[in-house]
Amino acid sequence: MATSAIPYNPIPSPTPVGPLVDTIKEIDTPSLVVNLDAVKRNLTKLRSWSTSTSVRIRPHYKTHKCPDLAELTLRKFPTKTCPFPGGGADGICVQTLDELSSLTSAITSGWGTTWTSSNHGIVDVLLTNSVVGVRKISRFRSIIEACKGKANVSLLCDDIDNLRNLNELLPHSSFGVFVEVNVGQNRGGITPTPSNLPNILELVKEAGSSYRGLHCYHGLLQHVNNSSDRVSQVMSTSVKSAREVKAYLTSNGVDPGVITGGGTGTYFIEGSANVHTEVQPGSFLLGDTEYGDVEMSKGAPEFEHACWINTGVCSVASTSSCVVVDAGSKAVDLVAGKPSVTDKGDRMGFTGKRDEEVRYSSGGDDHGVLTFEGGRDRPGMGESVRMVPRHIDPNVNLFDWIVVVEEGEKGEMEDGSIKGTWRITGRGVGC
Ligand SMILES: Cc1ncc(COP(=O)(O)O)c(C=O)c1O
Repeated sequence: MATSAIPYNPIPSPTPVGPLVDTIKEIDTPSLVVNLDAVKRNLTKLRSWSTSTSVRIRPHYKTHKCPDLAELTLRKFPTKTCPFPGGGADGICVQTLDELSSLTSAITSGWGTTWTSSNHGIVDVLLTNSVVGVRKISRFRSIIEACKGKANVSLLCDDIDNLRNLNELLPHSSFGVFVEVNVGQNRGGITPTPSNLPNILELVKEAGSSYRGLHCYHGLLQHVNNSSDRVSQVMSTSVKSAREVKAYLTSNGVDPGVITGGGTGTYFIEGSANVHTEVQPGSFLLGDTEYGDVEMSKGAPEFEHACWINTGVCSVASTSSCVVVDAGSKAVDLVAGKPSVTDKGDRMGFTGKRDEEVRYSSGGDDHGVLTFEGGRDRPGMGESVRMVPRHIDPNVNLFDWIVVVEEGEKGEMEDGSIKGTWRITGRGVGC
């Protein structure tokens, strides 16, 4: 089944919307704004945790899909143009072929809009998904050939025929394989029952020298609100399954390799259980209110919200307690729930400072309605309002650009400045 690689066409770059302005107040709406200082604090906290535990960190690109943020995450030393020493990540995850293509084209072309000269060596990239069928395998091949020597790319596999296809269609040793274990989410992976364990071993042997490790991730546990409930559920699913598969492979003379999994809600638990050797949180970088409602584990770093939707008032005429804003469902992802309004988007801990007296509701594709309770003063025409998304990943997916801002000397946004606009290049649904 020979195939030639599909020609590699990087996604064309649109021009940033709106003129660049001088002050944060002037940023046009609707827009997605990221506080770079909060991003750096979040990265520093995760890096310190990783250093103190020796658990590797491979943050997920699916949250932001932005090469500049990926570069900061992977950076291990300060550079001439940026004194921030970086997130020090050991590698990076992507979820779709579009994300993979966006990340690897940034790696090969010298990164994003702002950072150009950092030396990351060969970047270790894991596509946390399987690649199935000739078309997708062919696209995967084009991508890994284009970044050869600059990035090593691995993927997930839970099916022997799929692995044989991959081995047939891709050059030997050109990609790594993580065997996906179903640790309870039922979203893929081999369920590690006694009768299935030999199937895992068969995959490991078929992968041969391309075998890198086990993928043991449980997405449904990330938002279990109560911390001790979350601990017991993680221990009895992802940690238990990972431990059993590790013991089985070891007893068959196979080194299980890297054991990876764990998002923002559970990485601290998997990382403390001495089975997972690597974690892959994504949302910790920008935050969302869904995570704001999760009681983080005792002793875990407290991350900050670093991203908000900036929306502007475009009508105050219809009722006295509402204003109409310019962020509708094209700018606000509502699947996980409504965004929360804050007038302090800059220094908001994951758990803090929502304005409970202001409620957002959708006014359609291009409008939202903010209702002010208790006789509160409303913002006037043209004023902007900050809203923290309920679920960050799909909300970022609605924007082409982020406007990156930095805090002022006193750590406030009011006297902060605009760093620039960074492209979100990995958007789309492409798998
Ligand atoms: C495989 C995998 N790893 C890591 C993550 C990151 O999770 P979070 O954004 O909750 O940290 C996700 C998120 O969906 C995921 O699917």
